[in-house]
Amino acid sequence: MASFRLFVFVATLLVALALAAPTEKRNIQKRSFKVPRSLNPKRKRGPNGADAMRKAYMKYNIPGGFIDISKNSQSAKEGLKINAANGTNGTGTVAANPEDNAALFLSPVSIGGQTLNLDFDSGSSDLWVFSTQLPDQATQGHSAFDAEKSKSFKLMDGAQFSISYGDGSGAAGIVGTDKVDIGGVSVDNQAVELATAVSASFVQDTNTDGLVGLAFSQLNTVNDGTKKTPQKTFFDNVMGDLDMPVFTADLDPDGTGVYEFGKIDATKFTGDMQWVAVNTTSGFWQFESSSFAVDGKVAQNPNASPAIADTGTSLMLVDQAVAEAYYSQVQGAQEDQQAGGFVYPCNAKLPDMSFAIGADQMATIPGNQVTFAAVDDANTTCFGGIQGNGGAGIQIYGDTMFKAQFVAFNGGNQSLGFGAKPTQ
Ligand SMILES: *[C@@H]1O[C@H](CO)[C@@H](O)[C@H](O)[C@H]1NC(C)=O
Ligand SMILES: *[C@@H]1O[C@H](CO)[C@@H](O)[C@H](O)[C@H]1NC(C)=O
Ligand SMILES: *[C@@H]1O[C@H](CO)[C@@H](O)[C@H](O)[C@H]1NC(C)=O
Ligand SMILES: *[C@@H]1O[C@H](CO)[C@@H](O)[C@H](O)[C@H]1NC(C)=O
Ligand SMILES: *[C@@H]1O[C@H](CO)[C@@H](O)[C@H](O)[C@H]1NC(C)=O
Repeated sequence: MASFRLFVFVATLLVALALAAPTEKRNIQKRSFKVPRSLNPKRKRGPNGADAMRKAYMKYNIPGGFIDISKNSQSAKEGLKINAANGTNGTGTVAANPEDNAALFLSPVSIGGQTLNLDFDSGSSDLWVFSTQLPDQATQGHSAFDAEKSKSFKLMDGAQFSISYGDGSGAAGIVGTDKVDIGGVSVDNQAVELATAVSASFVQDTNTDGLVGLAFSQLNTVNDGTKKTPQKTFFDNVMGDLDMPVFTADLDPDGTGVYEFGKIDATKFTGDMQWVAVNTTSGFWQFESSSFAVDGKVAQNPNASPAIADTGTSLMLVDQAVAEAYYSQVQGAQEDQQAGGFVYPCNAKLPDMSFAIGADQMATIPGNQVTFAAVDDANTTCFGGIQGNGGAGIQIYGDTMFKAQFVAFNGGNQSLGFGAKPTQ
């Protein structure tokens, strides 16, 4: 399978210093801990389907399809501004016409005693943050990490990171270690990547101050100037000290919820958890999902792409044939270029969607949880939370799936567990 995430490493003229491996001194106060994911009170508008679709396509570098990236995305035109690691003021341009696509969800993380709101992303492996080395225009509305004000920050000389998506959106900058505290559990020498450059889409994402990557550490983009020197994710660093080497995502239908590390709370789902082995070759939480069911009628997806569990994507992107099969059962549904995907009358009755977890298990998303958002103010046309992947060769199971399924990410035996959330 082709690489669908494009990592670009910024070359440097500086002579790279050899990097000592950061010491793994930990300071675990608890054996399990929770992090809330709450609604961003500053967000003015509800979720936007086309926007969510564009983001997912951008993240995985899915070419065109019927999505006109340039139409909606200022960042597509602007690309990645400012070079990494020279600290000068570049052109951290705020788009002239910023759409209100501020992040919906916030999870607080303390770095060197400074609190930032970071997105927990099981689809990437960099912990990067807005930093005060960005130009002021870029950090407006964000909390930016100030390394000089942290007593525990240590610069990794010469180290850089650069994470870049298909259209040029992304972030790049310098790297250090600091004490990172999530939910009361801290790692003393966590690799923290300080953006000195971010693309306009992140600038506009007011109040998301960076990401906590929770995929496998091999995807981490840190380099020492000449070669890749992937750093461990926060989860990799704390995993061995937890009661169980797991974290769980428990997202509610409104998108809020809780990430819990170290424990699987069996009161949060009904029945038994269904487990599937993860294929870590790609660095994602990837598993086989080659059949599906619409209202319980099972069908095969003969050319099925592998699926990944990605908390950093709003929608559930399935193979195009699966999306078509699903919406063929929805009265009035159509693929709408302008809306950016499958839409249907908001009063349509939606069938349940089930997807395979490995060879012989299935998990279900109730029909009444499939809608992502209304397309118009009158709420007559709705945008589906299940969409086609445009032939990307990967199925990306994002929040649409997480709202219906309680998911455990097991780093110990490298597996995923799915438990049906109680219907509300
Ligand atoms: C530093 O970044 C600025 C802003 O993009 C760029 O113009 C300049 O060439 C960079 N300098 C070096 C030495 O890379
Ligand atoms: C960057 O620009 C800000 C004002 O926007 C200024 O206060 C700061 O000194 C500049 N930094 C550098 C390194 O030029
Ligand atoms: C992984 O571990 C869990 C319990 O922690 C167990 O229930 C599950 O069967 C295991 N899965 C695989 C694929 O080994
Ligand atoms: C694991 O995934 C890789 C690439 O995503 C694929 O090439 C390989 O065949 C998969 N391995 C198994 C055992 O399915
Ligand atoms: C449309 O739905 C939103 C969210 O549920 C609601 O706040 C709004 O009042 C609805 N508008 C109309 C015209 O019903």
